[in-house]
Parts: sequence; C-alpha cells; structure tokens
Amino acid sequence: METELSKRLGVEHAIFGFTPFPAVAAAISRAGGFGVLGAVRYTAPGDLARDLDWMQEHTGGRPYGLDVVMPARKVEGVTEAEVEAMIPEAHRRFVQDLLDKHGVPPLPEGEASGWRITGWMEHVARSQLDVAFDYPIKLLANALGSPPPDVVGRAHDHGVLVAALAGSAAHARRHAEAGIDIVVAQGYEAGGHTGEIASMVLTPEVVDAVGPLPVLAAGGIGSGEQIAAGLALGAQGVWLGSIWLTTTEADLHSRALTAKLLAAGSGDTVRSRALTGKPARQLRTEWTDAWDDPDGPGTLPMPLQGLLVAEAVSRIQKHGTEPLLGTPVGQIVGRMTSERSVQQVFDELTRGFERAVDRIQRIAGRSAS
Ligand SMILES: Cc1cc2nc3c(=O)[nH]c(=O)nc-3n(C[C@H](O)[C@H](O)[C@H](O)COP(=O)(O)O)c2cc1C
Repeated sequence: METELSKRLGVEHAIFGFTPFPAVAAAISRAGGFGVLGAVRYTAPGDLARDLDWMQEHTGGRPYGLDVVMPARKVEGVTEAEVEAMIPEAHRRFVQDLLDKHGVPPLPEGEASGWRITGWMEHVARSQLDVAFDYPIKLLANALGSPPPDVVGRAHDHGVLVAALAGSAAHARRHAEAGIDIVVAQGYEAGGHTGEIASMVLTPEVVDAVGPLPVLAAGGIGSGEQIAAGLALGAQGVWLGSIWLTTTEADLHSRALTAKLLAAGSGDTVRSRALTGKPARQLRTEWTDAWDDPDGPGTLPMPLQGLLVAEAVSRIQKHGTEPLLGTPVGQIVGRMTSERSVQQVFDELTRGFERAVDRIQRIAGRSAS
C-alpha cells in the first residue's frame, strides 16, 4: 500500500495510527505503518522523554511521530488556579451529585488526577516540543488548529513534516496557508474532537481544496475496504485512531471499559461537549446523557469543562464505574468486537485492502469489456 507520502516517510503501508499509548504507537511502526504518539497527557517533560526513550528502543529504527494539542484560541497569561476560579459553583455541585448518585469513591490519598488542562496550553505544548526535537521524530501533528509559524519553521529545520487535523475544506485551506505539509481530513464519524462533515464528503473536498498537498483520510476507518475507499477518494494515506483502543497493547486501565467498547455498536457514540467543552465523539454513557440533558446546567467552554471534570473522570476510570465509564471513540467502535494485537489488526487491514482492490479491478474489467 504505497503512496508518494508513504515513500517519503519510508513506511511500507500508508496507514497512520494515532494513539495515546507508546506500546501501540511502536507496534504500529513495527508492523509497517506510521505510529503517532498523542502527547496531550504529558504535562511533565520528563515523562515524555521517558516514553520517547522507550519508543526509540521499541520501534526497531522505524519512523514515528508525535501529536500535540495547540488550540487555535490560546489559554495563556492566566494561571490554572485563575481558570479554575471561573467555574460556577452550580457546575461543581452537578459533578458531585453525579458521582454521589453512582457511589464513585474518591481517588486514593496522594493520587493526582491523570488529566489536566495544561496539555492544551501553548507553553506546555512548546515544552513537549523542546523534548520531542531531541528525538528523531519524522512527523509533528497538531489537533485543534494550525501550529504557529515558528513551530512549523522549527519542525522543518529538524527535517520533521508537519500535519494538522481539519474538519472542513476552509479549515484545511488555513492549514495549507500556514505552511503545513500534510492535512488530516477528519470526518464526523471519528473519535475525539470532530466537525460536522462525514468522511465520504470531506475527504474529496479537502483533496480538491489543498491538492497537491497530501491528505490523509480519517474518521470511520477500521477495515481494509475502508482504507481503499479513502485512497480512492484521493487521499495519500489513512489516519486511524479508534481501532487501536481494543488492541492487546493498549493500556485503558480498565477491563470494564474494554468490555464496553467490544460490546458497543456503531450507534453507541455521541458527539458531546461533556469531556472537554468542545464537541468530541465518545461512547454514549450516563455521564454524557447527564451533561447533554436540556434540564441540566449544560457544559462549560474549553478549557473550563476539562478542568471541571478531570478528577471525576479519573475517579470513574479508576473505579470502573460502569454506567459512567467512557472514552473518546468513533462510530467504527461497532467493528471492534474482539481484542487483537496491533499486528493482527494490521494483517486484517492489508488483507481487506487487497480484497477491495481485487473487487474493484474485477468490476472495472467487466464494465470495460
Ligand atoms: C481516544 C482518542 C483520543 C484522541 N485524542 C486526540 C488527540 O489528543 N489529538 C489528536 O490530534 N487527535 C486525537 N484523536 C483523534 C484521532 O487523531 C483520529 O483523528 C481519529 O481517531 C480518527 O477517526 P477514528 O476514531 O474513526 O479512527 C483521538 C481519538 C481517540 C479515539
């Protein structure tokens, strides 16, 4: 599955895998794809350096990349405590009542909530880059906007290609104007922050908008047939996020969550502001229902919502409180029905791709005769 972009990056398959787990990212690169490690949770530079050291040892010299989150609207010049003070008391009470209703115990003494606002602050993302550029990363991806010009310049000086996620053609054009190298066209079906346009419509729109810049198709891809569709729509590769969550290498910290993902159908996700304050596709749970209930207090804007719910989310995950337990995941969750290794997922993807190509060749051959 070779495209100009996969050749440029030196990978066998034009399959890019986003994941928050180093073990998954390394396994994707070892399998012949391009593993991209999500950095948003690394608020201490030492932790990122430790995991990049680990990646170096476990990617067998294969290329990999890093994904940071620099939101277009910056949260700078205020401390985390000042931001925290902006959260209304009624919202705090709502969280507490939800936790009480489901009997969610507190975190063990001294255990910090795993998820903080700071990964979305530009100075933290920049400190992640200070670490990352000491490693031979081949790609830097940014969610939620175009990276600032000096970051694009710095990446290029290090020989690192820059990618950014886009949910519309206009968004993709802004990335192209910002000098980035690859646009990830991420459709409505995708897990995580998404726009409102489905991949089938979005991919060719973005290809037309920014070509000849390479485009990766993302959102709703979990089979080789879907990869073939993305490439047929003009993409130079595909970018998959959800499918890796139920691999044996993933570290979800909760068997109950893995079981929920394996049981979920494609209709069991919702695009909700419940986790971060921006619409993000995730498993539909009693947590998202409570926040999306018109009789509730409603969600707060980013970054307040993330700050408000960080500890609650950690408590729910820690204790595996089933009705509230969720994660960002896309509609492709309906195909995630068994736990497999990354290599097994890869083998199925490449076999499915070959089947799709054969089928189209047969159809094209028949219609030509
Ligand atoms: C659990 C999870 C976390 C995600 N976090 C990020 C993130 O931090 N940065 C980012 O650029 N994209 C993030 N995404 C989106 C992925 O990069 C990718 O675009 C998306 O998963 C593709 O669609 P799919 O879920 O249908 O495969 C996340 C996706 C998931 C499932």
